[in-house]
Amino acid sequence: MATVSLRGVSKRFDRTTVVHGIDLEISDGEFVVLVGPSGCGKSTTLRMIAGLEDISGGEIAIGGRVVDRLEPKDRNIAMVFQNYAIYPHMTVRRNIAFGLRTARLPRAEEERRVMATATTLGLVDLLDRKPAQLSGGQRQRVAIGRAMVRDPAVFLFDEPLSNLDAQLRAQMRLEIKKLHQSLGSTIVFVTHDQVEAMTLADRIVIMDSGRIQQIGTPTEVYRNPANVFVARFIGSPSMNMLDARIEDGGGLLLEGAGLRIAWPAGAARPAARAALKLGVRPDDLRAAAARPAGVTDGALVAEARVTVIEPLGPDMLVYAQCGRDEVVAKADARSALRPGDPVLLTAGPDALHVFDAATGVVL
Ligand SMILES: Nc1ncnc2c1ncn2[C@@H]1O[C@H](COP(=O)(O)OP(=O)(O)OP(=O)(O)O)[C@@H](O)[C@H]1O
Ligand SMILES: [Mg+2]
Repeated sequence: MATVSLRGVSKRFDRTTVVHGIDLEISDGEFVVLVGPSGCGKSTTLRMIAGLEDISGGEIAIGGRVVDRLEPKDRNIAMVFQNYAIYPHMTVRRNIAFGLRTARLPRAEEERRVMATATTLGLVDLLDRKPAQLSGGQRQRVAIGRAMVRDPAVFLFDEPLSNLDAQLRAQMRLEIKKLHQSLGSTIVFVTHDQVEAMTLADRIVIMDSGRIQQIGTPTEVYRNPANVFVARFIGSPSMNMLDARIEDGGGLLLEGAGLRIAWPAGAARPAARAALKLGVRPDDLRAAAARPAGVTDGALVAEARVTVIEPLGPDMLVYAQCGRDEVVAKADARSALRPGDPVLLTAGPDALHVFDAATGVVL
């Protein structure tokens, strides 16, 4: 087991900098997920930790030891890729044992480790099969087995589940989480899927354009997003963003919606009449035909008109036109709302996020 430290790590390809001085301290046994849109530098960052890519600046340490000059095989890491790269001509047994190729172990010890790994991953009955005789999830497990068999200090996963169908992905997600709980190893996991990130991570690192936008637990980044990018990236459907500005009286004017509300508690007041964004998650915005009981002071209450209803089972998504803004809200599954109906949207004061429109930073 080991810590992983990135200190001011950057990466240039020719003259283009794709990772800009990243600082990240990963604790021993922690499950950290790097998430962000395509091209934001996730794989490059992971490959620098693995040693598959040189770093252009900064320093990387694994287990307290600077590894910048070490070959990948000497870093005590194991990497699992999206296209799992298992050998089609080798049996499951040989594929897993291949992970030990640099270790030069006695035959009996090799056999013991392969069996232990196969047992953990439920592959014992499949050891003599070739990859073509396996399902996608089983193949992915073989790839994980090949990484696990070496008992590395750090596991690096680059989108290992994205080739699997939705159901299998959810199942493998659970297996990886259980594996982490039983092995207690340090894991750095890359995905562009925010649901995968939220469900797996002890801490999430949200990246955009080669920069870290926020680091926090899933709850922290969901509840207290640092900026508009994080606010919209985490959570589905995305957080509603309404144009707003501060009023002379100290309230907040929602320009598109044509609505005045009290200044949300907790948000720092900007000096001037800055252009602002008011963010509210669909999950925090209730849509109902009538004003629900218990709406408190400082809450957002807006009249709108339903455009589209999306039933989700336990509840429904209500798309509604609110002045010039279109917003998404949640409604009770038993609600009788229909497109064209007037609807009242409400959100509690602690569900409101105010951002500086120019910088995107939360106030
Ligand atoms: N070998 C390379 N030479 C030049 N540019 C590269 C190279 N590898 C990656 N890049 C660029 O670096 C940036 C980051 O790429 P990276 O693969 O790290 O993104 P990513 O976040 O993993 O994206 P995805 O979600 O699509 O896998 C991209 O703009 C990419 O085009
Ligand atoms: Mg990638």
